[in-house]
Amino acid sequence: MIAVLTTGNGGIELGRIAIPQLGPESVLIKVIVAAQNPTDWKTVANFKKKGNVVGCDFAGVVEQLGPNIEGEQIQVGQRVAGFVHGGIKSNGSFAQYLVAPAHMLIKIPSHLSFEQAAQVPIAASTAYSCLYKSLSLPLMSDSDRNVSTTILIWGGNTSVGRFTLQLAKMSGIQHIITTSSSQNFDSLRQLGATEVFDYHDSRAGEKIHSSTGGSLRMAVDCISEGTTPYQVSTALSAAGGTVAVINPYVSLKNGVETVFTLGYTLLGDAFEFPIIYEPEPKQVEVGRKMSKMVAGLLADQKIQLGPVKIIPRGLAGVVEGFDYMKRGAVSGEKIVYRIAETPSVDS
Ligand SMILES: NC(=O)c1ccc[n+]([C@@H]2O[C@H](COP(=O)([O-])OP(=O)(O)OC[C@H]3O[C@@H](n4cnc5c(N)ncnc54)[C@H](OP(=O)(O)O)[C@@H]3O)[C@@H](O)[C@H]2O)c1
Repeated sequence: MIAVLTTGNGGIELGRIAIPQLGPESVLIKVIVAAQNPTDWKTVANFKKKGNVVGCDFAGVVEQLGPNIEGEQIQVGQRVAGFVHGGIKSNGSFAQYLVAPAHMLIKIPSHLSFEQAAQVPIAASTAYSCLYKSLSLPLMSDSDRNVSTTILIWGGNTSVGRFTLQLAKMSGIQHIITTSSSQNFDSLRQLGATEVFDYHDSRAGEKIHSSTGGSLRMAVDCISEGTTPYQVSTALSAAGGTVAVINPYVSLKNGVETVFTLGYTLLGDAFEFPIIYEPEPKQVEVGRKMSKMVAGLLADQKIQLGPVKIIPRGLAGVVEGFDYMKRGAVSGEKIVYRIAETPSVDS
């Protein structure tokens, strides 16, 4: 099959590689659309092994079932979205085929295109982990429920932030503060934010602290690098609080606990990134619950998806997509590649 492969020196190239082997509890997928996340280029830059298949998020069609997936209600021909741990082995979403764990597949409802669905898996599962695992918020239920907590979602216009805002609102949180560029304030209010601050303002953290009367105890940092560890900690109460972080850091402010979430742990495999993560059955269960919940919300049209930016020439466009993302041009959109547009590659 054709795939985007690591060159071993921080670069990528289009090449040919064997279709990955189907194992137990997994499914072979024909990838129709792959979506790009910052982790794709960061993994290529940091893990310099040659011949790994790049890319995590995908939407595609179930081609073949592996053993032991009876309980997952997956059938050949079904339209599904999901993610794999791309860039570290010979299985990734920037390819014509991939093997994915059955428990993480999100069924795509008929009203959604493959392009729209491909943007969902990593962003939604990270939002889910931050709110319900790291911050231990109660899972949303069908009943009307108000949670009197105030939450700060720093970086509301990121892919992760847009899902976190919507899940927080559906979970009944009444007061949701977020940050973005000023031109995106209205769009984030539509997703559930009650107050929005401009993150370019170096005093945004202090302003949030004042506006909450120094009472804020809970945050999700959807950036977790650069100045945001300082800004988010400043926004919190003098007594501290808990911050769900998605790039690991320790806050320098007394009383602030950071809880790191790594979406890949939901896949249920052992991996090195860069430390060794052992598989945990508990995480597989979290991943299964997340996929079912997100599939239900998509089917009920309760999630508002953002625009996609289709980079032409399929997998041959990934170099351009990486450049676009690395120079910070992504704003509230998801880069996607249509695999069928990829030009042929010699063996
Ligand atoms: N641990 C995990 O499992 C996990 C999972 C997913 C992502 N991540 C990490 O999370 C980060 C975000 O990923 P993503 O895909 O959600 O991002 P993304 O969609 O590429 O984020 C782009 C957005 O970031 C916003 N932004 C940039 N700098 C900001 C700042 N200083 N404060 C607030 N907002 C800022 C911009 O908002 P405006 O357009 O309003 O300017 C822009 O729209 C990345 O570092 C990624 O590697 C980790």
